[in-house]
Amino acid sequence: ITQKHGNEPPGPRPLPLFGNLLQLDLKKPYNTLLELSKKYGSVFTVYLGTKKVVVLSGYKTVKEALVDYDDVFGDRNQPEIMRELSQGHGVAWSNGDSWKEMRRFALTNLRDFGMGKRACEDKIIEECQYLIEVFKKFQGEAFDTTQPVNCAVSNIICSIVYGSRFEYNDPEFKSLVDRTARIIRLSGSPSIQIFDMFPSLFKWTADRNEIHKIFSANKKQNQTIFSRLKETLNPQMCRGFVDAFLVRKQNLEESGITNSHFHNENLVMTVMHLFAAGTETTSTTLRWGLLLMAKYPKIQDEVQEELRRVIGDRQVQVADRKNLPFTDAVIHETQRLSSIVPTALPHKTTQDITFQGHFIEKGTTIFPFLTSVLHDPNEWERPHSFYPAHFLDKEKKFVKRDAFIPFSAGRRICLGESLARMELFLFFATLLQHFCFTPAPGVSEDELDLTPSVGLTLSPSPHKLCAVSCM
Ligand code: HEM
Repeated sequence: ITQKHGNEPPGPRPLPLFGNLLQLDLKKPYNTLLELSKKYGSVFTVYLGTKKVVVLSGYKTVKEALVDYDDVFGDRNQPEIMRELSQGHGVAWSNGDSWKEMRRFALTNLRDFGMGKRACEDKIIEECQYLIEVFKKFQGEAFDTTQPVNCAVSNIICSIVYGSRFEYNDPEFKSLVDRTARIIRLSGSPSIQIFDMFPSLFKWTADRNEIHKIFSANKKQNQTIFSRLKETLNPQMCRGFVDAFLVRKQNLEESGITNSHFHNENLVMTVMHLFAAGTETTSTTLRWGLLLMAKYPKIQDEVQEELRRVIGDRQVQVADRKNLPFTDAVIHETQRLSSIVPTALPHKTTQDITFQGHFIEKGTTIFPFLTSVLHDPNEWERPHSFYPAHFLDKEKKFVKRDAFIPFSAGRRICLGESLARMELFLFFATLLQHFCFTPAPGVSEDELDLTPSVGLTLSPSPHKLCAVSCM
């Protein structure tokens, strides 16, 4: 591989065809990237197969690229499977004017139907009660928290997008939730990663076929829901994102604009992107939080003591956050340590750039290495431990930290950040008010394994917890 432009970012020597794949520890690929950044610096190149990727590492570099040069580093690179499924529509895997319109519209509507209004807080609080009922049914016996937490978090997106929640055992809801989880799991599978590197060679893998099948079924189901919503649409009273989109589309069409970005493909893809991006991430983070509480009972005690002292038996509200510095610090530290989206979603450069002395060509895939920031030893006193004091000052008041960027930064920053933060706070604090989380019988706290399972996100390895009622 020739260095056409001189000082391209350095990196390990790639092998023909395989690139640097054989050098990656596939169980912990992010550890390999951390090692490589120690050796090659904060801007380096790796080859995934024949695909060249420039990795940006450490707080200063990631922030400089994503914020100071956001016009150069702010486009999305689409992995092959996402290109096939989304076809450039929707909000997460698109670029250009269509992306801008969808992002702006989604943000406005998340505000209207979601985080801006008291209504959303009430929806989350209502959902907390349903989740508590499910946890109570286990009567302190060990269970896997994945399914109930997924359902609760998915219902928040349903409320915002469709305008109503579902019962957890509703077959339509169950298939939406299960299929979305399956698509996310398959997208992170090794065979799909390999398909991304060698699309023409690995077109016929079973995982790719399954993703396509499940994705089509989800799309069809969404279209059925949209048809139902259309029949009862009242432009004066939009129930959610879908209603608002349909009204905008109708208005544009009535004024003779037929080539706008408000078309059916953008509607269904944006809804599916909000669903996928807004469920797995939040529910995985919540499950990390509960697992960490079971592993570190002293920290759990301290959270519960604060909740008892400040809130007592009443329902926690968003306004309470400022009076719960320790609980807030524990949630932030959970996000920092678990770093569930290690390399954000892939970006790409919109033009040639010389960045920190390195030449990067237009169209190069960029990985903003968020874990390197969240675990940056220059920023965090104990980067690899669970240490809520990272977010507390000497008086035990909560302190914001600039290097806390689990939602990334710049123009592609997570669209659901405010919603996610509200959900994490209300679900976590309410659950901790009602339950004490402990390992399954026969498992010690030390034995609870924090090694993540690597997929599209880093999730806790399969485990069970007991939720012992404490209210
Ligand atoms: C993108 C993290 C929750 C919707 C992202 C990105 C990250 C992220 C790291 C990629 C940013 C980049 O490419 O630089 C998280 C975490 C969450 C969370 C850690 C929860 C703890 C949510 C929620 C929603 C959401 C609740 C929806 C309501 C999106 C969308 C994008 C995105 C649509 C793509 C944005 C774009 O390409 O313009 N998120 N997210 N996320 N997130 Fe989130």
